[in-house]
Amino acid sequence: MPFLADRLQKIHPSPTLALNAKAAALKAEGIDVINLAAGEPDFETPDWVQQAAIQSMQQGMTKYTAVDGIPALKKAIQQKFLRDNNLEYDLDQIMVSNGGKHVIFNALMASINDGDEVLIPAPYWVSYPDMVNLFGGNARSISCSESNDFKLTADQLREAITPKTKWLILNSPSNPTGAMYTVTELRALADVLVENHHVYIMSDDIYEHLIYDNHKFASIVQIEPRLKLRTLIVNGVSKSYSMTGWRIGFGAGPKELIKAMTMIQSQSTSNPCSIAQGAAVMALNGPHGFLQDWRESFSERRDATLDALNKIEGLSCRKPEGAFYLYVNCVGVLGKVTPSGEVLETDNQFCAYLLEKARVTAVSGDAFGLSPYFRISYATSMQNLTEACKRIKDAISKLKPQANAA
Ligand SMILES: Cc1ncc(COP(=O)(O)O)c(C=O)c1O
Repeated sequence: MPFLADRLQKIHPSPTLALNAKAAALKAEGIDVINLAAGEPDFETPDWVQQAAIQSMQQGMTKYTAVDGIPALKKAIQQKFLRDNNLEYDLDQIMVSNGGKHVIFNALMASINDGDEVLIPAPYWVSYPDMVNLFGGNARSISCSESNDFKLTADQLREAITPKTKWLILNSPSNPTGAMYTVTELRALADVLVENHHVYIMSDDIYEHLIYDNHKFASIVQIEPRLKLRTLIVNGVSKSYSMTGWRIGFGAGPKELIKAMTMIQSQSTSNPCSIAQGAAVMALNGPHGFLQDWRESFSERRDATLDALNKIEGLSCRKPEGAFYLYVNCVGVLGKVTPSGEVLETDNQFCAYLLEKARVTAVSGDAFGLSPYFRISYATSMQNLTEACKRIKDAISKLKPQANAA
């Protein structure tokens, strides 16, 4: 009898984390790899947030806390929703977990029965389908075309909903595309959802503050308050405050769901780190002016990288509104032959070629459920980005059309 559980057959290791580990291992061997696979800002956590963590420790915040988060943090989250989204939540509609990922994990574990369907617009963040499958659900990916900026349309949604649909997962701005839904697009989706009372909405707003060119963020609940009773908003401090390692995420949604998620958390991780919670209070309640500098820096890097990549023959990329990713179309390089004679049939093979030849890590579209693309993160220095684009260009220039490759 095999020792490991059958459910492991349903999931894979996170491809993005695996690639980051590979890049780190190559670097440790002294190989000059530029890692464009990272899913985190390259800025330091703001100093006042770091100081708050030290103070938390010094003031004795080193013990277990309430499972769903310290009252001060839950109140700060309540204020955040009011301030940023004009949404009112009671404290029992809010919980704190070990990162946004953990909020999603808790919510799916608390709600998915065997065979329940979860609609996931593709390209999607890599962890959604695996978590759904882990809990016996049926992750149903809906391909969203580049011509519609990789966004789900109301018609696609209407067609995809069945009596077994439990959740729709929305992520705007998106990882991996950076695309953001407009108010009009959210309105159209909301109209379909209002009619389908059995469908819950998971709104993953983790990139809410990383939006450029004066685009304005809106969560679907702001557009259609009637959906509030069946929407879980997922957010956290990881991306907006460059606190990926601190592991603080939060969810706001229906009381019953939050209660069930808290119960699961009470039997697994217990409270998120007390010190990180103290720091997160300061992150949410503290100054936010720095975000404008971060946004300017990100949008400069986005524009420069986009420009460089769009000049490379065989690649093309749309301009994303938010997050810090570019989802690059690489159909133009497929079918070409590498100097060692391998035909590049897939985006996976192309990314392997980039790592081998250009020493650049990028994640293939395959991991995000829509090919042929690859994702790069521009949350790294301009110098790295310039050099990476140059290397990608050189590597592509060494490819030959099949007929000429002999
Ligand atoms: C779309 C999306 N949701 C959730 C998360 C999870 O964030 P956290 O680090 O807070 O768990 C990520 C992180 O990459 C993400 O890209």
